[in-house]
Amino acid sequence: MIAAAAQAREQAYAPYSGFAVGAALLAADGTVYCGCNIENAAFPAGICAERAALSAAVSQGCRSFVALALLGGPVDAAQIDTYCWPCGVCRQALSEFCAAEMPVFSARSQTDYQCVTLRELLPLAFSAADLQQK
Ligand code: THU
Repeated sequence: MIAAAAQAREQAYAPYSGFAVGAALLAADGTVYCGCNIENAAFPAGICAERAALSAAVSQGCRSFVALALLGGPVDAAQIDTYCWPCGVCRQALSEFCAAEMPVFSARSQTDYQCVTLRELLPLAFSAADLQQK
């Protein structure tokens, strides 16, 4: 998963921030869907790696996921020094399709990573259930 995220990161289009991110989303059927961040001169039109991966999966009919791995750092960095975690918008987007207990791995390298659950990243998430309250 980390290798897949690192490979996707190589495709990142990040000329404005200089920060390249790759994400790999493991589906329940074993398929891995990848994404990278894709920036835009009109900044809000850009998309994060996690939502790019999620978009690829859902567009191909997949809505069930068991793990996410990501890797982010300066475009030309020889090595990644920090653990990159999903932004708030991506946490919310992931929570639509992923269980709160899904593990999210953030890596600095193939062997150096941290893992938290989606619930830890987004406690008390707003969800479809909230829309059904009278
Ligand atoms: N970014 C991601 O793709 N995922 C994250 O988890 C954090 C931020 C992107 C958005 C933007 O292209 C760049 O990183 C700097 O914020």
